[in-house]
Amino acid sequence: HTLEMEVEQIMKGNYEHYMQKEIHEQPDSLTTTMRGRLTSGEGGKPKGVVLGGLKEHVDTIRRSRRIIFIGCGTSYHAALASRQIIEQLSGVPVTMELASDLLDRQCPIFREDTAVFVSQSGETADTLLALEYAKKRGALCVGVTNTVGSAIARGTHCGVHINAGAEIGVASTKAYTSQIAVMTMIALALGQDSISNREMREAIIDDLLRLPEKVREVLKLDEAMRELARELVNEQSLLVFGRGYNYATALEAALKVKEVALMHSEGILAGEMKHGPLALVDETMPIIVLATRDAIQQKQQSVIQQLLARKGRLIIVCTEGDSVKMCPSGKAKVIEVPHIADCLQTVVNIVPLQLLSYHLTVLRGFNVDQPRNLAKSVTTE
Ligand code: G6P
Repeated sequence: HTLEMEVEQIMKGNYEHYMQKEIHEQPDSLTTTMRGRLTSGEGGKPKGVVLGGLKEHVDTIRRSRRIIFIGCGTSYHAALASRQIIEQLSGVPVTMELASDLLDRQCPIFREDTAVFVSQSGETADTLLALEYAKKRGALCVGVTNTVGSAIARGTHCGVHINAGAEIGVASTKAYTSQIAVMTMIALALGQDSISNREMREAIIDDLLRLPEKVREVLKLDEAMRELARELVNEQSLLVFGRGYNYATALEAALKVKEVALMHSEGILAGEMKHGPLALVDETMPIIVLATRDAIQQKQQSVIQQLLARKGRLIIVCTEGDSVKMCPSGKAKVIEVPHIADCLQTVVNIVPLQLLSYHLTVLRGFNVDQPRNLAKSVTTE
């Protein structure tokens, strides 16, 4: 045991837990994910993306009738976070499937479909069964995994490794952000021939290259998030409102709080607020609202006003410099984060919420790296 414990301490470096280490590692894991895949436009080469494992299939994917994203847990959220940019740049409709539900429904899948399997471990039973199911029906099967040689990496026709490095904490953190980076690169590859999207694509490439630095910046909120965790430590429940790209951030933040801090938490699509969730709002229920600057920020601004009108206890995540604009009354706690392209903002926004769930867990005295009843890789149905 002593040797095992020593090895573990070496692997954790200066951190107390793997989850903590993996959260703080994200500037590096994101860099590794993008290494050799993006060209910045310098040295005469055009600005673009090269994904070796996908190159020969890009045309088939672009011509497919629909792209179906399939995954479980955090991997599903990463796919959801990338849905809009894939739709925008490829022009192909994208649908989302939780692997177990696809199997329960025996969802129709056809030869003209592309099915993308997203899995950190590459071994999740439901995702693997869904892969067999889709393969039998003739769909082109693409894998996005973190594990070379895993069952899903081997079983798919082609794919992209996220190269985030081994993830040991049961709650997925760095794999999530690397999955989004990879799927954004897939979107760029699918859109590569379109002239009308060119400017947008180049702006996204510039921001992908800036992303590790932005994540490094947002990690400085560590202490502020520990402070926030202290305020929330005895709460029963935490709501997270998001929309657009940040609907996925809301779901993922709530999943983190649930799985490690063992606190009830729900990610809510802000557009659905009036259809039920608003009834939960009072002076006591803590609510995180994701309201960073993007195409739909104005809508979030009005959500904030409506929540404040009902005396909601808000914690607003907004872009640097937007505090007063998003909450003129000053009657909310505000967390400012650095700004980046809309489709990558979710990567920046999830980081403080990962930190929050980490600190909540430590303060509540629960096992960070191995939450009760959960496993890193669920290999049974
Ligand atoms: C388990 C893990 C989650 C993970 C999910 C999917 O539930 O605890 O962190 O998101 O499986 O795992 P995968 O390896 O397929 O991404």
